Amino acid sequence: MWASWLFILALSALSSEISGRRPCVPVSFGLSSVVCLCNATYCDTTDPVVLLAVGNFSRYESSQTGKRLDLSTGPIQKRKISPSDLVLTLNDVKRYQNIKGFGGAVTDSASLNILALTSGTQENLLKSYFSEEGSEYNILRVPMGGCDFSVRAYTYLDKAGDYKLDSFSLQEEDLKLKIPIIQKAKALSKRPISLFASPWTAPPWMKTNNATTGKGSLKGEPGDKNHKTWANYFLRFLDEYEKHNVSFWAVTVENEPTAGMMTDYPLPALGFTPEHMRDFISSDLGPAFANSSHKHVKIMMVDDNRLLLPYWAKVILSDLEAARYIHGIAVHWYVDGLVPAGVTLGVTHQLYPDYFLFGSEACNGYLPWEKGVRLGCWERGNKYSSRIIEDLNYYVTGWTDWNLALGPDGGPNYVNNNVDSPIIVDLAKDVFYKQPMFYHMAHFSKFIPEGSQRVGLDPSHNNQLETVAFLRPDDAAVAVVLNRSPLDVNFVISDPSLGIIDTTCPANSIQTYIWRRK
Ligand SMILES: *[C@@H]1O[C@H](CO)[C@@H](O)[C@H](O)[C@H]1NC(C)=O
Ligand SMILES: *[C@@H]1O[C@H](CO)[C@@H](O)[C@H](O)[C@H]1NC(C)=O
Ligand SMILES: *[C@@H]1O[C@H](CO)[C@@H](O)[C@H](O)[C@H]1NC(C)=O
Ligand SMILES: *[C@@H]1O[C@H](CO)[C@@H](O)[C@H](O)[C@H]1NC(C)=O
Ligand SMILES: *[C@@H]1O[C@H](CO)[C@@H](O)[C@H](O)[C@H]1NC(C)=O
Repeated sequence: MWASWLFILALSALSSEISGRRPCVPVSFGLSSVVCLCNATYCDTTDPVVLLAVGNFSRYESSQTGKRLDLSTGPIQKRKISPSDLVLTLNDVKRYQNIKGFGGAVTDSASLNILALTSGTQENLLKSYFSEEGSEYNILRVPMGGCDFSVRAYTYLDKAGDYKLDSFSLQEEDLKLKIPIIQKAKALSKRPISLFASPWTAPPWMKTNNATTGKGSLKGEPGDKNHKTWANYFLRFLDEYEKHNVSFWAVTVENEPTAGMMTDYPLPALGFTPEHMRDFISSDLGPAFANSSHKHVKIMMVDDNRLLLPYWAKVILSDLEAARYIHGIAVHWYVDGLVPAGVTLGVTHQLYPDYFLFGSEACNGYLPWEKGVRLGCWERGNKYSSRIIEDLNYYVTGWTDWNLALGPDGGPNYVNNNVDSPIIVDLAKDVFYKQPMFYHMAHFSKFIPEGSQRVGLDPSHNNQLETVAFLRPDDAAVAVVLNRSPLDVNFVISDPSLGIIDTTCPANSIQTYIWRRK
């Protein structure tokens, strides 16, 4: 007995050595779960995904009690399903959207925090997001100019009346912060990284209110000199980034276009009604892109809360001139609790199935009564994965977190709109903390690569689990299972071509299952 235990211990020591996986160093700040502490010489890692032979599955689990992407494996069994089993049946006849990917935003504030770390710590942080030993993000959002997560207000064309864009210039924030981070991320990533850019504000002189913040729109009318210049500003931005070998997959027409319609709105913004956006796209932005070297860059509209759907989609996409230049519809998560997914995302997909839906921004800690950073809060991770699963089940093709990293105060933010982030950097100690949100994101990003297709995962009974399933380009199947309840849930995953996975999702935990099918 004693000897066989020793043998097992030796074996498990051996296998962890072979895998090279480094465990989380947990730190509690007195909230519902822990953060994982990383410094210049140590950071927890996850091995690259290795698919087992057909007939076995891998299961990754993170939990409120402290598991972080812990791997276990088991056989896919042939046993009969009993009527009392909760069964989730993989249904590959039901085929839905293809996935673009998962990622976060390279804001000025995120970049400032990351680049102020010593090189070892910085490398551990970027590897955590982009390398095969981390979450393998493949999406990066890049603000086109300043946003609230900057330390000052700026645009690339502050010289009034410069309609020819002669004075257009990238700023130190691009050259010294964002571009270096993007290049490092690309160097660490095995997957191709797709970038998308979003403007917050036009130069004040182009706006009705002559300011970066507050209620204000582009002066004049679509088709005029001012609107043409704003369209050319997008192209010039893409040109300038290309000089640094950074090219973009997509742009959004405007970050939160309804924000700039609100009196005294405190953050940088540019207001559009849906009619104004429609006409700007059909007269200016669309033709400018189509007649440029950036004609392959996708244009996403809305980039605002799903509350606007399907109304904005109807206004813009029922106009054939505007519709031909649009590829996708980007959504933010901030009022998801007020508007069900079915009547917004679902209806929009039914009306306009040729336009992809895409999550372009989300964060925690934005509500006045729960503002800022909460180190180790498990529920904030739950909120991410629960909303991601809901979005994916309603045709969303990707999901983008907000700031990649922030300081302990949830900033910097020059207009005091501090929020939370999956990674919090403590510069004074040259360390960073990976929060539950970080691992909830990884349960999707690492396992569902670009080109995966959502398939059915049909439950036999009503149950507490939140679930979604995919087939990957390598034909492996993936299922993500979230249990936000305080009870363990026993269930089986049935893959009719192979057998069943007999398993349990413990209380307050999230799991990703992956198995080869041929
Ligand atoms: C970095 O973290 C590791 C693991 O927690 C610890 O052993 C080491 O002392 C830390 N290094 C520094 C410089 O704090
Ligand atoms: C793989 O499956 C076989 C047979 O079903 C089983 O004996 C073996 O233990 C499994 N291996 C792993 C790593 O789970
Ligand atoms: C816009 O604001 C700038 C800076 O505050 C000021 O110099 C300029 O005169 C203003 N322009 C107009 C048209 O009011
Ligand atoms: C861009 O890439 C090319 C070819 O790989 C290389 O020669 C050039 O130095 C790069 N330029 C910059 C600014 O990184
Ligand atoms: C297309 O671009 C060319 C060169 O950049 C320019 O001369 C031409 O006027 C543009 N056409 C339209 C319709 O914008």
